[in-house]
Amino acid sequence: MKYPAVEAYRFYNESPEVDDFYRAVIAGFRQTPRSIPPKYFYDEEGSRLFESICEQPEYYLTRTEIMLLEKHADAIKSLAGSGCYLVEPGSGSCEKVRLLLETLRPTAYVPMDISCAHLKAAAAGIATDYPWLDVHAVCADITREVSLSFIPEQVAPVMFYPGSSIGNFDPDAAVGFLTCLARIAGPGGGLLIGVDLKKDPATLHEAYNDASGVTAAFNLNLLQRANRELDADFDMDAFEHHALYNCTAGRIEMHLISTRKQSVHIDGHSFNFNAGDSIHTENSYKYTNDEFRLLAQQAGFTSCAVWTDSDQLFSLHFLRVTRSLSE
Ligand code: AVI
Repeated sequence: MKYPAVEAYRFYNESPEVDDFYRAVIAGFRQTPRSIPPKYFYDEEGSRLFESICEQPEYYLTRTEIMLLEKHADAIKSLAGSGCYLVEPGSGSCEKVRLLLETLRPTAYVPMDISCAHLKAAAAGIATDYPWLDVHAVCADITREVSLSFIPEQVAPVMFYPGSSIGNFDPDAAVGFLTCLARIAGPGGGLLIGVDLKKDPATLHEAYNDASGVTAAFNLNLLQRANRELDADFDMDAFEHHALYNCTAGRIEMHLISTRKQSVHIDGHSFNFNAGDSIHTENSYKYTNDEFRLLAQQAGFTSCAVWTDSDQLFSLHFLRVTRSLSE
C-alpha cells in the first residue's frame, strides 16, 4: 500500500463546505416561479432516500445503467486505454465505479464530491478494496471549476459521470458543465457518461411517482431540511409531491405544491402561498442519442461509442475531447 501511515488515499479539500442552502432558498423564493436547486436534495436523509429511489422497481435508470456498464466493460477498457486516470465528479458512494475497476485497471481513481465526510468514507472503502489503486479524493463543488494539478500533464484523464445526472442541468448549463469536464480531461481525454433516453411518458411518469412514495419523500425532504436547518416552519401536511413529464421541454419536472393558502416563515422572512402554488425543485432532461451527441459536440466532445439496452431505456456514451475550448 502506498500511504500506510495516515490514509490509504490522498485527500484534497478544494471547497471548504460553505452552507449556502439558506441563501439559495431565500433567492429561489424571491423569484417567480419559486424554486430550490436540486443539489440541496442530498443531505444525509436525502442521500439515503435517493439510494432507495434507485432500488424502486419503477426507477429503471440505475439497474439499466449497471447492466450496460457490466456488459460493455471490455469495450470501455479499449476506449479508455490501459492505466488511465479515472476521474469521477459527483462520485457519491463510489458504487458504480466498482463495476469498472477490475476490468479497466486504472493507474489512479479520482472521486470528487461536495460532501467531504461522504467522500472520505467512500474513498477509504475503495482504497481498502482495491489496494493496487492510487486514490486521490477531491472535495469540491463540481459545478465550479477545479484544477487537478496532481494529474501529470501528459496524461489525458477519462471522466466518469454516470446516473444521468447531466439531465438535472438545463441544456445550456449542461453544455457549460460538459465544457468544464472537457477542460479537465484535455485534448484526447475521455468521458463515459450515462444519459436517460426519451421514451413514452407513462414509463417516465411511473419512474418519478413510485408506488411506495419514496420519490415523494425525497422531494418533501427539502422542506424538512429547511425546517431542520433554516428555522423554517413548513407544514409538512400542506405540500404535495408532483412530478410530470413536460413533452415540449423533454423533461420530468418535480414540484412541491401548496395544498392550501398559507404563510411560511424562514428565519424571519415570510412567504405567502395560495392553494396550487408550486416550488419547482428539479428538472430531469431526457435525450435521444442524437440530441445528446449534439450537446456534447458543443462542449468539444466527439462520440466514440454509444450503448443502449434492448428496450431503449438508457444510454451510455463514450466521448473524446477533440479540441481545446480555452481559446
Ligand atoms: C440524480 N438524478 C439523475 C435523478 C434523476 O432521475 O433526475 C434524481 C431523481 N429525482 C427524482 N428521482 C431521482
